[in-house]
Amino acid sequence: MAGGDWTTNSNEALTLSLVRAREDKKALRDDESFEQFHPTFTYPIYGEDEKLYGYEDLVIDLRFASGSLAQFLSVRYAKKLDASSTVDNVEGILSEFIPSGYETDEATFLSRVEEDAISFKPIGKLIHSYKPSPQTSTLPDVSDTSEETVEYEVYHATLDDPGFKEYHRRMQIFILLYIEAGSYINDEEEGWEFVVLYEKRKRTDGIPTHHFVGYSSLYNFYCFPERVRLRLSQFVILPPYQRQGHGSELYKAIYHYVLSRPAVSELTVEDPAEAFEDLRDRNDLRMLLTHEQFMREGFGDSGVTGSHGGGRVMKAKSRARTRVAPLGNKGKGKMGPPVDRAWAERWRKDLKIAGRQFHRLVEMLVLLHLD
Ligand code: ACO
Repeated sequence: MAGGDWTTNSNEALTLSLVRAREDKKALRDDESFEQFHPTFTYPIYGEDEKLYGYEDLVIDLRFASGSLAQFLSVRYAKKLDASSTVDNVEGILSEFIPSGYETDEATFLSRVEEDAISFKPIGKLIHSYKPSPQTSTLPDVSDTSEETVEYEVYHATLDDPGFKEYHRRMQIFILLYIEAGSYINDEEEGWEFVVLYEKRKRTDGIPTHHFVGYSSLYNFYCFPERVRLRLSQFVILPPYQRQGHGSELYKAIYHYVLSRPAVSELTVEDPAEAFEDLRDRNDLRMLLTHEQFMREGFGDSGVTGSHGGGRVMKAKSRARTRVAPLGNKGKGKMGPPVDRAWAERWRKDLKIAGRQFHRLVEMLVLLHLD
């Protein structure tokens, strides 16, 4: 509430949380308990200026069961202006963006959380799993209990998988809340595929439970003559899990899934946000730098030597952005410079990377090699 003018910032008022069952909470370490978090955007829901009128100390409490994403919504405030047409109907507006049937009674919701913790199982097919590692985790010590009890799993599903359409309708609100210009997909349309990332924990009673971390939606485009191009359309990792390497793992899972499917010709990305572009570049470059045959053919015997760490990658990236002219021909291989275009195109097709992205990557590799 700003200065008694009855307006509230809707990003601050909307408070999100992922609620775990009591047993699941016990499995968490002190430094891991997930607190409430806020959206980055609420303009698709509450309007361009992201302001709500008519309340003092407004809290829009939207909770999700950590696995099933069953929802609870409660609106609280210290004061509300007398009934007036200008007072925003905060619950009414938000309820249009979540499936009906959300809980409004806290006790009922909490017992649902307890039940779902045991009964909820991810929908679809397991395509990738990984353990928290020093590279992919900010956990201070992953050598003890956490390694035994925590794992991350990526599932692939479509809207035809029983129950997935309903599940998707509960998770899609994160697209509006975290992706600029994000919007709901038409879930009656054919061709959508999804990959969903979960944290898997073993409880003290031995039962494994799954907790939603993030997801990506992909769309199939027909690609002449008989293949499809998969376009990554939406991609989100929830704030409590960001900057711990999970986005990279989810992206790699998608990429390997694309490689494993003969019918898919390439992976493209729709209108990537800058943070996502960074994530994609880093992972694509790492993949190419560790691809022995590609590097050998590209740079002759020498390859790109030295550290392949983030610093070098980012340096090459910013130089590629500013289009620094090549310094001279140091290479013996197909990446010259100049790059052998036919060779590059053959690799691009084999690696199923979209044209523009692949040419940027090659440009970055050439710059790295010249360093
Ligand atoms: N700003 C800039 N770069 C970032 C950010 C950020 N906020 N987050 C991640 N990156 C880049 C960095 O290069 C990072 O490497 P570093 O940690 O060594 O600096 C690299 O991505 C890998 O980081 P991860 O930890 O694997 O990424 P994370 O799990 O945090 O996921 C993501 C990144 C997907 C962007 C996440 O922050 C998110 O969901 N944000 C909100 C939604 C969003 O913007 N989605 C992408 C929309 S575009 C699309 O959907 C096609």
